[in-house]
Amino acid sequence: MLLANTSTLDAATLQFAADVRAGLDRPGQKELPSKYFYDAVGSSLFEAISVMPEYGLTRADERVLRGHSRDLARLVPTPLLICELGSGSGKKTRWILEALREKECISYYPIEISASALASCERELGQVDGITILGIEREYLDGLREVAARRAQGAHLLVLFLGSTIGNFDSGADRRFLESVRQTLIPGDCLLLGADLVKPLDQLLAAYDDPAGVTAAFNLNMLARINRELDADFNLRQFEHVARFNGSTSSIEMHLRSKKPQTVTIPRAEFMVQLREGETIWTESSHKYSVAELKILAAASGFECKEQWIDQEWQFAESLFMAI
Ligand code: TRP
Repeated sequence: MLLANTSTLDAATLQFAADVRAGLDRPGQKELPSKYFYDAVGSSLFEAISVMPEYGLTRADERVLRGHSRDLARLVPTPLLICELGSGSGKKTRWILEALREKECISYYPIEISASALASCERELGQVDGITILGIEREYLDGLREVAARRAQGAHLLVLFLGSTIGNFDSGADRRFLESVRQTLIPGDCLLLGADLVKPLDQLLAAYDDPAGVTAAFNLNMLARINRELDADFNLRQFEHVARFNGSTSSIEMHLRSKKPQTVTIPRAEFMVQLREGETIWTESSHKYSVAELKILAAASGFECKEQWIDQEWQFAESLFMAI
């Protein structure tokens, strides 16, 4: 059983195989790392989620950026290198680039592990006049260090971390991540942080479990990707998408629930996993912040919260942190 020739796999696939195996081999709650959602299919499904009426997050993020990009441009120092952690398609960044290019020579570095997202970001923003754009296919902090190393004397960094990805870190890891970001910066550099805020439960649950099933398809695509890339035999019909709110951590938790007892073979991870009926694989949590919590987060990680813009239609905050 499980005979696969793993010696011919590329480094990225080997890493994927190792991460999948480690997550599914855990005693207790099985898990899969959410960064693997975004292959070409997953990125397209997420684009679809972001236009679903129930998922107001992305539109709120865009509205605040569109409405306040000029205020932002007034507050950040120049000349500026802009780096975006996880640029996605780059659509909402256009407003910021257009407001900032009126100031001084601007270069934009989208940092993405998804090659397909990076390509569409470069297509989307390649035409903004007066902006030099250079995509970096790396993990967030590695990419950020690479951009920081290119900084000329007197230039500042503006780091964009939008879409509330910060909420997807484990509890406590959000602060540690911001501390690491802070360590690559110098005083006066800025971080624009998008964060989804606490809101009524029914609104949250609908956002993460839309009736048309787009969100379910996005979550299930994780298993489909393992089938495609690691030759596994997950039967997607025997799993269901689950979104539930954990009040004690103020997080929506996403799982894939096994509808029956089953055994799945993952040849390229040289692994076999057994699931009980009702057992879940945890794929992501999405923490919902309070405004006060974000200010505390800034102070705890070496920043000063300069400004906060909040969308009233869908409670979402864009916070401008300055390194001190
Ligand atoms: N990072 C996004 C969020 O927290 C991703 C997301 C949206 C997501 N819907 C999902 C992840 C459903 C898993 C399942 O909002």
